[in-house]
Amino acid sequence: MIELNHVSKTYAGKSVKAVDDLTWTVEDGKITGFFGPNGAGKSTTLKMICCVHAADEGTIAINGHDVATDALEAKRQFGYVPDDPDRFLRLTGIEYLTFMADVYGTPAEKRQAFIEKYAKRFEIYDALSSRISDYSHGMRQKVHVMGALIHDPKVWILDEPMVGLDPKGAFELKEMMREHAARGNSVLFSTHVLETADALCDNVCIIARGRMVWNGTLDELKAAHPGSSLEQIFLEMTDHE
Ligand SMILES: Nc1ncnc2c1ncn2[C@@H]1O[C@H](COP(=O)(O)OP(=O)(O)OP(=O)(O)O)[C@@H](O)[C@H]1O
Ligand SMILES: [Mg+2]
Repeated sequence: MIELNHVSKTYAGKSVKAVDDLTWTVEDGKITGFFGPNGAGKSTTLKMICCVHAADEGTIAINGHDVATDALEAKRQFGYVPDDPDRFLRLTGIEYLTFMADVYGTPAEKRQAFIEKYAKRFEIYDALSSRISDYSHGMRQKVHVMGALIHDPKVWILDEPMVGLDPKGAFELKEMMREHAARGNSVLFSTHVLETADALCDNVCIIARGRMVWNGTLDELKAAHPGSSLEQIFLEMTDHE
């Protein structure tokens, strides 16, 4: 579970808040989709949850561990896939995965089994001995998803994880998200693909200009706007804010 309480953030040199007074609980056992226009504050929110940026105001706790005062324990709770997979380019895939498993203390047998299983599901097993700089965008995305999840964290935080994935990769990732939530864990991901809401999300949060404009189940969202498509609902909610 992730709990945000009156969280705000303004970047240095900016006059407008990137995230403005966000109070939100991301539930266990659910897949939560995080939607909003470009620049709405999604990545900033996810980075504050993952301790990449500090909030100016408010508190964030992951499974009860405050990210400001109990950061190490908070960091053990989650796996984070950032929006930019162009990282660790000089390492080979297997070096990167070994590094991540070492950082999180994943035992040898577990990491081996994880790499075998998921590299095969993502069809990048044969590429693991190549440098990440030689990977395509989608292959980088896949290896970073694996690196973030190799320690089997309870909470998954994925920033636009489907971007660049081929249909099989996107299918496998969605299956993995469903499996993880079904085991009682939290899955939070941002996306611009509204169709994933229907296909994947239990809960939906929409922000615009740093402020939450909707939070609830997908069924509640649809019931509140009878006869409208998700696209119409999204445009209406984010335009009128
Ligand atoms: N490192 C930064 N320094 C200064 N301003 C930033 C920085 N990162 C984001 N911002 C600003 O904060 C606001 C929110 O950006 P953010 O990246 O959180 O949006 P987003 O919802 O993830 O957008 P997108 O859908 O394009 O990924 C924007 O106005 C953006 O210009
Ligand atoms: Mg973003």
